[in-house]
Amino acid sequence: MCGIVGYIGKRAAYPILIKGLHRLEYRGYDSAGVALINGQGQLNIYKAKGKVSELESFAAEKDTTGTIGIAHTRWATHGEPNTQNAHPHYSESERLAIIHNGIIENYAVLKAGLMKEGYTFKSDTDTEVLVQLIEYTQLNRHVDLKTAVQLALQQVVGAYAIAVLDKDHPDTIIAARKGSPLVVGIGDGEYFLASDATPIVEYTDQVIYIEDEEVVSLQMGKDVDITTINNVTKTPEIKRLELSLSQLEKGGYPHFMLKEIFEQPRTLTDSMRGRVNVRQDNIALSGFIDNKDRFLNAKRIIITACGTSWHAGLIAMYAIEEFAQIPVEVEYSSEFRYRKPVINKDDVVIAISQSGETADTLAAIQLAKSKGAFIFSICNVVGASIPRISDSGCYTHVGPEIGVASTKAFTAQVVALTMLALCIGREKRIRGLEDEGISEEQFVRIVKELGQIPDKIQCVLAQNKRIADFAKTFTYTQNFIYLGRGYNFPVSLEGALKLKEISYIHAEGYPAAEMKHGPIALISQEMPVVVVAPRCGTYEKIVSNIQEIKARHGKVIAVVTEGDEQVRKIADYVIEVPATEECLTPLLTVVPLQLLAYHIAVVKGCDVDQPRNLAKSVTVE
Ligand code: AGP
Repeated sequence: MCGIVGYIGKRAAYPILIKGLHRLEYRGYDSAGVALINGQGQLNIYKAKGKVSELESFAAEKDTTGTIGIAHTRWATHGEPNTQNAHPHYSESERLAIIHNGIIENYAVLKAGLMKEGYTFKSDTDTEVLVQLIEYTQLNRHVDLKTAVQLALQQVVGAYAIAVLDKDHPDTIIAARKGSPLVVGIGDGEYFLASDATPIVEYTDQVIYIEDEEVVSLQMGKDVDITTINNVTKTPEIKRLELSLSQLEKGGYPHFMLKEIFEQPRTLTDSMRGRVNVRQDNIALSGFIDNKDRFLNAKRIIITACGTSWHAGLIAMYAIEEFAQIPVEVEYSSEFRYRKPVINKDDVVIAISQSGETADTLAAIQLAKSKGAFIFSICNVVGASIPRISDSGCYTHVGPEIGVASTKAFTAQVVALTMLALCIGREKRIRGLEDEGISEEQFVRIVKELGQIPDKIQCVLAQNKRIADFAKTFTYTQNFIYLGRGYNFPVSLEGALKLKEISYIHAEGYPAAEMKHGPIALISQEMPVVVVAPRCGTYEKIVSNIQEIKARHGKVIAVVTEGDEQVRKIADYVIEVPATEECLTPLLTVVPLQLLAYHIAVVKGCDVDQPRNLAKSVTVE
């Protein structure tokens, strides 16, 4: 969702900014723009609807010189995606230019005030209001740009990451954040600015993560200067970036999504490294070890997340209740934050987020924190906002996930949550709560099996070609149903979400037994039904569900355990996954569903990595 890039130094800014925008494309956007101050002190802005490549074509014959600039990819909130609404925006005098990620909630009131003062507006955006307010403040309070930004932001309600240029000061970029991420990269006599580290990594590994309500001044020849919006000086904390360039490239795959699906054997090994010790039958999760009592004394665990991360949370509910016997509630962050939920001091809240920047999940955490709950987060992006405001947590360590459709982050979240459930359950047993904890025998069995999961995923990936072949059958299909039970009910939701996101085919996931309560009315020969049916507790029941679908001429695509003959006889297509512990089956069964969605989207000619309307990191409500 909206991407920010900035550069100030001795090199030509434009190529750095454009490359940076390409790196941020994965976040999702619908227009792009750039502002540069050239050697003659002119402030040039170029904008285009659509992809960054369209901006490049538009700017090809224009003056793109200058060693200072800011650039932006916009995901429309206020006003439709068009050139006028694209960022950067000029101020009234065209002396200032701004880019912005977030939402200025009180923009209408601010705009009305500025209009009374004679300001005019060229776009429908909240962002243009902010740049006008900054210029108005600068002129009327006779202050410098940094102070004007501070004073303007004091009046703002909402979320922002901004960067501002002033053509009268071509040696400075002023930036600030609240609720939307912003990272400064420190090079050799040059500074970089971005929404995340991906545009920065090829130039420097020295970064500063800007905190909420901080204003940063990047001035040539001077150290980074950080103050709050109330002008309290802050000491910049320089961190070392652990990200490599190769992680941001496709590595020979046609799409990031396919690369990320195929990376899962390795990413899960990375997620478990130093944590799962198969030889010693042990799991060591530092975030749990340091806070055992909080988990053991919890009367309840609340899991909060959005989208795919919420599906991982549902799987965790099954695992935590099974192994640790603690009641679990799984909440959509967007509902939880506005629901006046009952939260007690001895509740543990687990927040799950790949990006660590999802606005709703951040707000849900803040609410739970204010009520005294202990916050444990599962996150992929190191240093993101969610882990930083949590009491403890666990990184998934799968490297950057570029495809908008989450794949490798999901399986790693499931592994992290399963490890946590096993740790709580084992600790309960060790402390003598025999009835509540997991037996040592079962614990050891699952630990051993976790060690086998990467190889078993490899076996599933080996069926890629076959899945690609039968995916072609569904090129013109309009609807899909996904069914699963127990641990695999959330997998059916996840399979349906993947298909919807990237192929734009309508798909719904249900617990298989719910089919009879309504969705069965949809079954006909036109309706493909994906049934996730590995051998586990409810296997016989789900076989009956498949019979019911076949009796109504539905087309069944079944995901089954290797060697399953019963389902093979009745299903139209069968994908086998190796046998494993029931709680680990989602790690295997979800992979063919990721591949199925991917191949259907490819045959339909969809933009798999950047599906329409979607953003990778949803930083606004
Ligand atoms: C997954 O494929 C989605 N793109 C989306 O549902 C995502 O999982 C959701 O927006 C939550 O994101 P987060 O994990 O970064 O918080």
